[in-house]
Amino acid sequence: MDNIHPIFDSVLSRQDKEKLLRQKAVVIWMVGLSGSGKSTLACTLERDLHGRGFLTYLLDGDNLRTGLNNNLGFAEADRRENVRRAAEVAKLLLQGGLITICSFISPTDEIRQMAKQIIGEEDYLEVYVNAPLEVCEGRDVKGLYAKARRGEIGNFTGISAPFEAPTNSFLELRTNEKDLAACASHLLRTLLPVISANR
Ligand code: ADX
Repeated sequence: MDNIHPIFDSVLSRQDKEKLLRQKAVVIWMVGLSGSGKSTLACTLERDLHGRGFLTYLLDGDNLRTGLNNNLGFAEADRRENVRRAAEVAKLLLQGGLITICSFISPTDEIRQMAKQIIGEEDYLEVYVNAPLEVCEGRDVKGLYAKARRGEIGNFTGISAPFEAPTNSFLELRTNEKDLAACASHLLRTLLPVISANR
């Protein structure tokens, strides 16, 4: 690292970009079990914000794991590295003024703490997409819980790997109590005042 001389913001600052885009950049970090509804809500949020003229970018675990993170599995250390890279990318997008939506299980306090630290506390908005394990397993959209129960997938979050429920998120959405449209609208209404600077 000694011979590396990074230059950030050499000409244009994040503020310049935020001004151009007429928005305040943040990272919205969606956390929750597989099947909790994170990715669906993240996609809906992105579409809603785009429709209102905000420039967004969506980073999703399932997507990143096909490219940037395709050498990582689901052991604890790999999950930490998965989230570390995602948080570093989110931080770059933040500097570019984008509203960055991240959807990762992020199963432990330590992993979420790391993401928050990389991104910066003031720009990290954690959204806990909360549905009980039985509900997520009942939905089993991708058939992965069934495979995990049969022992065909190891280290499966909630079954054979831990999920520590977040306790101090910016927002918690209970997707088993309210439908998708209600959760999406709650999320949007909460975020709009935060990101609408310069409008
Ligand atoms: S994280 O724990 O490292 O944050 P990430 O969000 O990237 O996880 O990936 C989770 C997605 O990978 C799940 O939605 C599911 O589709 C898939 N997946 C495959 N194997 C596992 C596993 N062992 N545990 C959890 N999710 C898995």
